Amino acid sequence: MKSDIEALYAKGKRLTPDAYELAEGAEISPSVLERLGQSESPIISREDIERLLVAEEKIPVQAVVARAEAFKPAAKEYSPNFRILQRSGGAGRSACKGNIEDFVAHFRNRFERIADVLKMRASEHPIVSTAKLKDMDGAKARIVAMVREKRITKKGNLLLVVEDEEGEAKVVITRGTEGFRASQRLLLDDVVAFDGRLSQELFIADSITWPDIALARQQKRTEEDIAIAYLSDLHFGSKKFLEREFSRFVSWLNGAEGNEGLASKIKYIIIAGDVVDGIGIYPEQEKELAVKDIYKQYELFDAAMEGIPDYITVMVAPGNHDAVRRAEPQPCIPEEMMKSRVVRLENPSSVLIEGIRHLVYHGTSLDSIISGISGLSYSKPEEAMAELLKRRHLSPIYGNNLIVPQPLDAMVIDEEPDIVHMGHVHKNGYMHYRGSLLVNSGTFQDRTDFQIKNGHVPTPGVVPVLETKTGRLSQISFIGGE
Ligand SMILES: [Fe+2]
Repeated sequence: MKSDIEALYAKGKRLTPDAYELAEGAEISPSVLERLGQSESPIISREDIERLLVAEEKIPVQAVVARAEAFKPAAKEYSPNFRILQRSGGAGRSACKGNIEDFVAHFRNRFERIADVLKMRASEHPIVSTAKLKDMDGAKARIVAMVREKRITKKGNLLLVVEDEEGEAKVVITRGTEGFRASQRLLLDDVVAFDGRLSQELFIADSITWPDIALARQQKRTEEDIAIAYLSDLHFGSKKFLEREFSRFVSWLNGAEGNEGLASKIKYIIIAGDVVDGIGIYPEQEKELAVKDIYKQYELFDAAMEGIPDYITVMVAPGNHDAVRRAEPQPCIPEEMMKSRVVRLENPSSVLIEGIRHLVYHGTSLDSIISGISGLSYSKPEEAMAELLKRRHLSPIYGNNLIVPQPLDAMVIDEEPDIVHMGHVHKNGYMHYRGSLLVNSGTFQDRTDFQIKNGHVPTPGVVPVLETKTGRLSQISFIGGE
């Protein structure tokens, strides 16, 4: 028995079995011990201990928020105008059981939709299927296909096996060509177009075309002078959750932290997942948790939401730490978990906000993209985000990321988004990529031991804010200060 539990027993206290379990695993400070010893009841429950541990970590059950008396928010004058464009990962759609047929149908759907994008593109050469290549008499052609195998030959050229609806082809890309350089980014399952000609059963390709998004599109603007704040990876319940900094963000929304002009324009807050730290997400997570009950973690979030002015629409999508299935697409966080009056989104979601098309995705697949493509790093998440757009798919590497093989692949990017909002890597990052603005909204969790071990340097407490009338993006830091 641990000495602190022994000390409680010596004072005539008895622990319920789950309280005992908690006390055995947790570090209990002398002050918590003293207060447990002074409690009226001889029986100590798990909740008793948790309550004191939460107090110890100074996590507010009721967020302490400052409000500026004279604050006249401009955004209050407008009514919200948004529409969720597609719902796909909802719990109601459970027809798919994850058997082979489901996966075949899922991948066929993914292929067809991305191939359609490529077939719409202007091409110098006729687009033919792999089965029709032999009829081309060696003339130049374009094939649109999915990469199934990839290897380097003895001569140093790239040999691919690709397939389309009608068959397969062996594609060779010669070392030193521009196509070869482009092929360095090719991943298995990528759907791309190859231009080249057939020569002795091999399709010698000299260029690769990605489905990508259109080059020049005007950034959408609104008449109304309002603003959208982007958040992600709050991790309520973690010992590293930056409670004071988050409270400062909420106070800022209430006009009490300076820069009131911008604060007063905030009409929407979008949260791209990892609202809470969750439980059992990785081995020994218990040690990192200030609150070990997932319901209570959401209660803390709900309490913090109380401080957000009610003319602001808050939208929340889940991430890999939230209380929904891990496999994507993820359904909305259920009301019995997160009780606050927010707009619940699936992960991923497409939302039209004031006419601006938002693609909101937690970004779990960024891990596999960063490790799968050389030159990418956690310090520039926006570049990894661009790789997803290039492929018109949010989770191109199958296997690293759990998926639900629904007949309609929800991770395909059908429509070109104006704003792409992700999180997950805890590092703010921005980029104008072709016609889209990419935003990675960082985190409100301080650097974790895992991040120290892996050399990741997060950027906590920094909130990107977009003014929709001018298209100006600002970063507001809530780190430091009073
Ligand atoms: Fe995450």
